[in-house]
Amino acid sequence: MDFALTETQEITRKSVRDFAEQDIIPQSHAFDESQEFPHGWAKKMGELGLFGVYVPEKYGGAGLDTVCYAITIEELSRADASAGVIAAVCNGLVCEPLLRYGTEEQKRRYLVPVARGDWIGAYALTEPGSGSDAAAMRTTAEIKGNEWVLNGTKSFATNASVAKVVIGYARTGRQKHEISAFIIPTDAEGFSVLKKEDKMGIRASDTVLLGFDGMRIPKENLLGDLHKGFNIAMATLDGGRIGIAAQALGIAQRALDESVKYAKERDAFGQKIADFQAIQWKVADMATEIEAARLLTYRAAQLEDLGRRHTYESSVAKLFASEAAHRAVDSAVQIHGGYGFIKDYVVEKLYRDQRVTEIYEGTSEIQRLVIARAVLGR
Ligand code: CAA
Repeated sequence: MDFALTETQEITRKSVRDFAEQDIIPQSHAFDESQEFPHGWAKKMGELGLFGVYVPEKYGGAGLDTVCYAITIEELSRADASAGVIAAVCNGLVCEPLLRYGTEEQKRRYLVPVARGDWIGAYALTEPGSGSDAAAMRTTAEIKGNEWVLNGTKSFATNASVAKVVIGYARTGRQKHEISAFIIPTDAEGFSVLKKEDKMGIRASDTVLLGFDGMRIPKENLLGDLHKGFNIAMATLDGGRIGIAAQALGIAQRALDESVKYAKERDAFGQKIADFQAIQWKVADMATEIEAARLLTYRAAQLEDLGRRHTYESSVAKLFASEAAHRAVDSAVQIHGGYGFIKDYVVEKLYRDQRVTEIYEGTSEIQRLVIARAVLGR
């Protein structure tokens, strides 16, 4: 067992941190306020290979490993969690299923442009009436001649109004899990963005409601086997949850960094607040939980690199990292006192951005369900 990062993993951290500090942090507050999509960040992330971190170079990716991917999302999210999720969706929810289940032709047409950073990708699983119970979806797909015709509505689709391709799921049979996965070009006839959500946090990331109204896509855009889309969705989320664990980790690390900085500057009762044990214990708890979250997240990533199933480890990492980040942002606001409650200080934004990490790509309750099933063998 080796806890040291490789030279490539260290270089990845340094280069993503340099980019994030130079290009993302200075604009972060403005994008949070305006809730506009940060096209400039997306363009630069794409050019740096951050949309296809572990995609082999022959498919347009950076050819690195999944630990490098987790480090990338951690560092982007330390700067701005919206940047983190934009990249996490492109890597984990779009490139990953295309790489794993796509034909060579599908890889050439859809994986290469996303991995190369020319296109943004999105993922559409959740519906207005089905979130945690993903298999209860109502969107249907029927084959008509040489095309699939999809009808339904998909909610909370990250990146989808700026994406060129969406990995979407629809019911193709009567049984609950008879669902298939589809590659949906966003210029397909019948595809529309119905609403952009106005969110509490990660406000620079694009979250939309999609309509598939008699939407037609070519027959060959079925991804993987017919009726096996639910398994594809779940296996994809095993990887996706590493990305959200890494996002939570980045938010928590920033909360700690800002708290340390503030505690060393702020005077009270004749000394720096860093000299009070009440503050020191909060900082010690934050640091300890961040270390644990980092180890769990990198372990899940390493298992993916070893080609081993990591459903349990990904859920453990996401559950722990997101809830540790909850405690970290709460402590950071408390350490900042009244300044933690106003927008001039980034901890106010971290507090809002963190919350969704306990909800999307499987709520904490769903992670506990997955973990309990594995532990109890149920
Ligand atoms: N890998 C591969 N296959 C899997 C799997 C996995 N991790 N988990 C389940 N499966 C397979 C099962 O083996 C089974 O296959 P067979 O029928 O071939 O045996 C099939 O899937 C059904 O499994 P279950 O009976 O366990 O399914 P279920 O209906 O009980 O659901 C669940 C399980 C864990 C609750 C699942 O519905 C779930 O994870 N729900 C949460 C959904 C979620 O995370 N949504 C987030 C949306 S994405 C998002 O947030 C997007 C964004 O933009 C950021």
